[in-house]
Amino acid sequence: MSDRAVAGGGRLAGEIRVPGDKSVSHRALILGALADGETAVEGLSSGADVASTRRCLEALGVEIAGAGPAVRVTGRGLGGLAAPKGDLDAGNSGTTMRLLAGVVAGHPFPARFTGDASLTRRPMRRIAEPLRAMGAAVTLSDGDTAPLSVAGGPLKGVEYAMKVASAQVKSCVLLAGLHAAGETTVAEPAQTRDHTERMLAGFGVSVRRAGLKVTVAGGSRLRAAKVIVPGDPSSAAFWAVAATLSPGSELAIRGVGANPTRTGYLNVLARMGADIHREPLRGDGGEPIEDLLISSSELRGTEISADEIPGLVDEVPVLALAAALARGSSRFRGLSELRHKESDRLAGIAALLNAFGAVARVEGDDLLVEGVAALAPGRADALDDHRLAMTAFVAAFLAGGESEIGGLESAAISYPSFYDDFRARTA
Ligand code: S3P
Repeated sequence: MSDRAVAGGGRLAGEIRVPGDKSVSHRALILGALADGETAVEGLSSGADVASTRRCLEALGVEIAGAGPAVRVTGRGLGGLAAPKGDLDAGNSGTTMRLLAGVVAGHPFPARFTGDASLTRRPMRRIAEPLRAMGAAVTLSDGDTAPLSVAGGPLKGVEYAMKVASAQVKSCVLLAGLHAAGETTVAEPAQTRDHTERMLAGFGVSVRRAGLKVTVAGGSRLRAAKVIVPGDPSSAAFWAVAATLSPGSELAIRGVGANPTRTGYLNVLARMGADIHREPLRGDGGEPIEDLLISSSELRGTEISADEIPGLVDEVPVLALAAALARGSSRFRGLSELRHKESDRLAGIAALLNAFGAVARVEGDDLLVEGVAALAPGRADALDDHRLAMTAFVAAFLAGGESEIGGLESAAISYPSFYDDFRARTA
């Protein structure tokens, strides 16, 4: 067997705890760096993306102690970062680049952000525009991509209406707003994940929300806090779909984030007939958590509206796989943003599903999936995209037989132990 070969078949049994939430982990390190005092983080994501944020913050003079899920961040105080000596390499991580660009914009030094082949293809005008309106000088590469340079300085607060529903853009502007004169308000076209707002409140910053508008006041100081990072719902989703669709499975996923801006995929799976019991746990106040108790069940097709997409944007690949094995057809509407993820995920999902004998096609910005009775082992390319890699692995598991998947190693971006954890719970 080559290292691309995946043997499928079996069912899932037992318990699993997924790595810490990637979005919450980035924010814990960043807010910790901007705070007064020492921030203790528990349950930090083990993924390469969060390591990129850590490396960039260290290059900005931030001390972060501890390896593994428990770290301590020595805050430098608002506006207290140091000029970096070289480029800030965000690797594969859009969150690292977009959030830190907002932070650096409020500091009186220039910084240049780079990234890997995927990240340097992704759209950056969406952050350049608001940061320029606030007074920062932002230079993009051809095609409005990274490498990008930010020359920060005194910023003024703005009221900014976002054109796309993006938590990264919202967070970029709010973080710049903390360093600006006066208030900064961001209006989102649809509710996106609100981890930045929740965590800012946990660090003692007053955040006002009115409908889809969020406001922060410039100069608000952050007080170091303890952050307990919940399990990542986007990682739990692979388990939820795999356990649902492999007959005879019984799986418990412990301590998963239950923030309603992230659990849209559970609503969709429930609508499709999944048997997932959600057991709320006591969280630490900032982010709710829950256990998910999953028994396998048959699914029926569904329609996913464009309004639902921001609440499950990272789960579309694995939900499309669920749709491929559901009775009847499913339509996912309004997926244009998926073209700008770690790969062109919209095209990637359709190609991946078809490689396993499913029937999927892109129609405009929609994805149409016709359910089939069973998948067949296939050869697929994950396009170096972690979510496509784990989706392909689950497809291979459900197909049985032996499949070949290129780009499996990209799972390390969010979930380095995924394949080992999966094998250990396959009966
Ligand atoms: C993220 C926001 C989303 C999501 C990404 C993480 C965040 O991106 O896809 O994985 O942590 O804010 P967009 O803001 O581009 O929608």
